[in-house]
Amino acid sequence: MTSWIAVDQPDFRTRVRQLNLPLACLDGHWSSHVTDQSELKAVLEIRDGVVQLRPLDKALGNPVMVDFIHGKTGFRFLRAQHEMVVKAVAGRSKEPLTVVDATAGLGRDSFILAAAGFAVRSIERHPAIACLLWDGMDRARLSPEGGAVADRIALQWGVAHTVLRDLPEVERPDVVYLDPMFPERTKQALVKKEMRLFRDVVGDDLDGEELLQVALDAAGKRVVVKRPRKAEPVAGRKPGYQLLGKSSRFDVYPV
Ligand SMILES: C[S@@+](CC[C@H](N)C(=O)[O-])C[C@H]1O[C@@H](n2cnc3c(N)ncnc32)[C@H](O)[C@@H]1O
Repeated sequence: MTSWIAVDQPDFRTRVRQLNLPLACLDGHWSSHVTDQSELKAVLEIRDGVVQLRPLDKALGNPVMVDFIHGKTGFRFLRAQHEMVVKAVAGRSKEPLTVVDATAGLGRDSFILAAAGFAVRSIERHPAIACLLWDGMDRARLSPEGGAVADRIALQWGVAHTVLRDLPEVERPDVVYLDPMFPERTKQALVKKEMRLFRDVVGDDLDGEELLQVALDAAGKRVVVKRPRKAEPVAGRKPGYQLLGKSSRFDVYPV
């Protein structure tokens, strides 16, 4: 797993506060606390007003930042109703649902689900990824195209297992959506340059199987799990049905 630090710039600390992320999120990660930097592979920093994770090793690809408005996600959110993740989460429901995206990552699925009209609570536990996501969401919120979408998303820094277990009855979501980082069995992810650093920094989510059970206990209607198209279902648990895409698949567990 890649080691990283947050560059201890005053404007970066200010930005973290402004994003309503607790500064404690980066405790122990500031560059000023680190004595041995020999293993360091990436730095989290603010550059031209944008938070980015920059690899120090070129083999890890380009800097990672979150931009919901331009590029691929921007295009996808404009046609959100056609996205397979939206179809999997919606099922046959016609009403706007409440969704917990328990593995928010860089927030692309959260944003697409919110663009389709769902109220989304997005949970991310990794401090560096949380900084990237909070920053991208804040910029989207201020844009004319993304403002209304971002306003349907509530971000939460924490471990989804705990958040879901502690949810009061009235806040239980209709759907819990999971896309954990499972150990890679194929070399496919390695070729995606933009994902290399992200994958390396986050590592594998080895508690994904347990998260499925917690999600099933919390969801009112269904749990949806994103998987590589040919992978085994999580914990060998057969889903109620599946939606197949080109490289990925959505396993739907009605509750
Ligand atoms: C594969 S990525 C998700 C990508 C995301 N679906 C997107 O569209 O950008 C998985 C993310 O889930 C986070 N994660 C995994 N298990 C978690 C948990 N139990 N609680 C909170 N975050 C978790 C990881 O830190 C990682 O950032």
